[in-house]
Amino acid sequence: MQLQGKHILSVDQFNLATLEHIFATADQLRGLAKGRERTSLLQGAILANLFFEASTRTRMSFHSAFARLGGDVCDTTGFTFSSISKGESLADTARVISEYADVIVMRHPEQGAVAEFAEHASVPVINGGDGPGEHPTQALLDIYTIFHQLNRRAQPINGMTIAMTGDLKHGRTVHSLAKLLCLYDNLTFHFVAPNELQMPSTIVKKIIDSGHQVKSFDNPVDGIVGADVIYATRIQKERFGEGDKALSNLFNINKECVDQSAKADAIILHPLPRDSRPEAFDLAADLDNDSRLKIFEQVANGIPVRMALFVLALGLDKHINEETFSAAPWQKNIR
Ligand code: NCD
Repeated sequence: MQLQGKHILSVDQFNLATLEHIFATADQLRGLAKGRERTSLLQGAILANLFFEASTRTRMSFHSAFARLGGDVCDTTGFTFSSISKGESLADTARVISEYADVIVMRHPEQGAVAEFAEHASVPVINGGDGPGEHPTQALLDIYTIFHQLNRRAQPINGMTIAMTGDLKHGRTVHSLAKLLCLYDNLTFHFVAPNELQMPSTIVKKIIDSGHQVKSFDNPVDGIVGADVIYATRIQKERFGEGDKALSNLFNINKECVDQSAKADAIILHPLPRDSRPEAFDLAADLDNDSRLKIFEQVANGIPVRMALFVLALGLDKHINEETFSAAPWQKNIR
């Protein structure tokens, strides 16, 4: 599938060949992503980075990715400073911003809002998260991370077991990741959550229809046993409705639970942010020195993967083969 000029709204758009092309492009951009090299490939191009819902890493990593490619970024954060607060429709905002930018990234609290916006935009729109709906670029960077981590021990993604824990009902990261992993073969999914926060049945059905195994667990001590990848998530209290109950302390993914149940070479991931308040049940900080924890490698991978998406959406992948990137002179002074 060609990404040039296309919106990126859902993981349903991708096939395995597209994923491999995105990952190969990201691999070529790692020096730029780290700031070791620089380029003027996107000089003169403008990204509109529109975030109508809280974000730190997604917003900044899109910004950083575009700037590392030599482009400029216009930002808007929250509804307060946007004309949407004056009653402007998503359609009008899309038509207006298409006149200012060459590519648009948007995050919105309502499921489907980014797709509605994209219908009226004349430049590529990338979904940075639409409520509990999807987060396609997070799923791409998650699989890119899993691929590289497993590859260190020559293990393929095909055949792996992944345990997803936490708020599987409202978490868009696990929705997109579970759907995108369907492209691989013979996976086992452990969905580890209390009944009220389990994975939506439409996604479970898609996984089973794609030939994978699904097992559900109501506690991580049992749920992470045998997992090659443990993907923990935050409880999305801001998305809770009437029937949703908070978690109990059974749901801490901490050193005790990991030491008791996880494989010695498991890979522990989390899309972040993790909730580090004392009353929260999330991935605990007592795992920070555990060599299985790969959350900061995962964060770092957001840059080359998002750079690859910009390069492909703007039709520049042929150019990176010809382009020579120059050394970034400031690097030797800081790292
Ligand atoms: C997540 C999100 O916003 O969906 N974070 C992210 O983008 N890396 C997860 C969350 O908010 O819990």
